[in-house]
Amino acid sequence: MSDIVRVEHLSYIYGEGMPDATVALDDISFSIEEGSFVGVIGSTGCGKSTLIGHFNGINRPSKGKIYIGGEDIWENPKEIRRFRFMVGLVFQYPEYQLFEETVYKDIAFGPVNMGLSEEEVNRRVLRAAKFCGLDAAVLSKSPFELSGGQKRRAAIAGVLAMEPKLLVLDEPAAGLDPEGRDTILSQVKRFHKETGTTVVLVSHSMEDIAKYADKVLVLNAGHIAMYDTTSAVFARAQELLQLGLSVPEVTKVFLRLREWGLAVPADVYTVPYAANIVREALAKGGTGTC
Ligand SMILES: Nc1ncnc2c1ncn2[C@@H]1O[C@H](COP(=O)(O)OP(=O)(O)OP(=O)(O)O)[C@@H](O)[C@H]1O
Ligand SMILES: [Mg+2]
Repeated sequence: MSDIVRVEHLSYIYGEGMPDATVALDDISFSIEEGSFVGVIGSTGCGKSTLIGHFNGINRPSKGKIYIGGEDIWENPKEIRRFRFMVGLVFQYPEYQLFEETVYKDIAFGPVNMGLSEEEVNRRVLRAAKFCGLDAAVLSKSPFELSGGQKRRAAIAGVLAMEPKLLVLDEPAAGLDPEGRDTILSQVKRFHKETGTTVVLVSHSMEDIAKYADKVLVLNAGHIAMYDTTSAVFARAQELLQLGLSVPEVTKVFLRLREWGLAVPADVYTVPYAANIVREALAKGGTGTC
C-alpha cells in the first residue's frame, strides 16, 4: 500500500517573527498509509487541529513539506485548490457553516464548486446523504429545521459529497449525546469500509479511538509522542497517563487485573476482545491465568 500523506520535518509557528510567536508543531515527520483509519489524540493545545489543517493547505508549513498522494502540495501554490478537493476536512462544530436554504443545496455546495455536472452533483448528494442517514424528506428542509445531530450529519455529508481521497474529522462527535456520537462515528466507519477512503479522526475520547482507529498518533506539545497500532499505543497506558491522557475503561480494568497478578494481556482495548479473553479463561476452568 502506498502512503496517502507524508509529512517531512514539519514545523508551524503562529505569529512567526512576533514577540508572542507560538511553536505549535516542531519538526514532525510521519506518513499515513492509504486506506487506513488513523486516530489523533493529545491534550488540549498540543497541535492536533494545527496539524490536520496542513493536509489540505489551510495552514502552510513554516518549515518542512506535506505530500498528498506523493505530490508536494506547496510545490505550485496556485494549484492548492486541487488538494482542497482531494482532502475533505470536517472542522469542529461544522454545522455552524450550514448556510443554504435547503439541506440539499448545502450538501451540493462542494460538488457544485468542483464544477461537476448537475447529474453528478445529484448522484453525490444522494449518496452522501444516505451514508449519513439523512432521508429524502430532510433534503428539502432548511438546515435550521434540523435537530443538532442531523445538522452535524448534514455538514459531514457536504464533505463526503466531494468524495475526497482523504477524510479528516476534527472532533466530529463533540457535544453530542452518546447515541448521537455512535451514530456519526459508525457512519464514518461504514463510509471508510465501503469506499476504502483513508480517514483521520481527531478525538478526545479514548473509547472512540479504541473502537474505530487501526493506528493512533499521539501528539504532545507539538511533537509526536507515539505512532503505532491502536493496541500497541494503549498498551503504553502509564506513558499516556503521564501525558495527561487516558486509556479506554476496559484497558484500565485489565491493567488492574495485571496488578493483582493475573496473567492477562496489557493491550486489551475493546470490549469484544476483553469478552473473548474472559471466555477463554473460563473455558480453561477459571484458574486465574489466560
Ligand atoms: N490562531 C492561533 N493563533 C495563535 N496561536 C494559536 C492559534 N491557534 C492555535 N494556537 C496555539 O497553537 C497551539 C496548538 O493549538 P491547536 O489548536 O492546534 O491544539 P489542539 O491540539 O487542536 O487543541 P484542542 O484539543 O484544544 O482542540 C496551542 O498552543 C494554541 O494556543
Ligand atoms: Mg483542536
